[in-house]
Amino acid sequence: MPRVAYVNGRYIEHRRAAVHVEDRGYQFADGVYEVIHLYRGRLIDEEPHLDRLDRSLGELRIAWPVARAVLGLAMRELVRRNRFTTGLVYIQVTRGVAPRDHKFPTDARAALVMTVRPIPEFPAEMRDEGVTVVTIDDLRWARCDIKSVALLPNVLGKQAAAEADAYEAWMCDAEGFVTEGTSSNAWIVTADGTLVTRPAGPDILRGITRQAIARLAAEMGIGFEERKFSRAEALEAREAFLSNSSHFVTPVTRIDDTVIANGKPGSLSAALHDRYVEFMNSSPLALGRG
Ligand code: PDD
Repeated sequence: MPRVAYVNGRYIEHRRAAVHVEDRGYQFADGVYEVIHLYRGRLIDEEPHLDRLDRSLGELRIAWPVARAVLGLAMRELVRRNRFTTGLVYIQVTRGVAPRDHKFPTDARAALVMTVRPIPEFPAEMRDEGVTVVTIDDLRWARCDIKSVALLPNVLGKQAAAEADAYEAWMCDAEGFVTEGTSSNAWIVTADGTLVTRPAGPDILRGITRQAIARLAAEMGIGFEERKFSRAEALEAREAFLSNSSHFVTPVTRIDDTVIANGKPGSLSAALHDRYVEFMNSSPLALGRG
């Protein structure tokens, strides 16, 4: 069964799927994206992801390429055609195809590409052993709340992490406060058991998993505080973890050369991970029961 991609209204064999050389996403990174976890046939937090897509498009004044409901149906059809049940749905909208000129084209139509990539179920050792992060300077622009495809600093940061045998890089602002990971939000747990993550603002992406964790933490009676925390505070934290749609809640057990607490994933991180998996398992099936 070949993989299938969606390109502007057509379902095309993935290896043949292509966009025009003058797509503005390709030339200017003039576009936005979303990643939705397809977990055992469930599209996790689909509506919040599409709400964020709507916001990103609005901030950049890109029109929806198709009506939101049509995108939802096309995404389901793509999932159906690809036949696997666990993977990542990638949705990308660019300002469209036009002769290269920085200002907005007057007659281009927004372009929509969607793919689905199978992924293995969450590796148990990541939950049980945690991952390492490195810290780097945050070199990004002032609108990180827009989920733009312009990801060069994130790419360089993730590469720096990989070269240091780490899983993620946490970016720090000029004052030494952690903003977020290159593709995840950053969290710590303080000595008194309070969850801390940076407030949503233009300097981070308001993660959908981040929002879900805040909700689940409230249900579990865990204290939650949105405030900046520094790299120095993170090194001393009782627990640290990261969150995103592909890896939910992933404990962090080392930051640069410092082992966090006793080097094992903390109990709150593990409990939140498990609660998040329960939440995913209780989400509705994307294609119904059939
Ligand atoms: N990244 N911060 C950044 C910079 C991100 O790129 C992401 C997600 C997150 C977490 O957001 P969410 O919980 O909505 O996945 C935070 C996706 C997974 C990616 O680029 O692949």
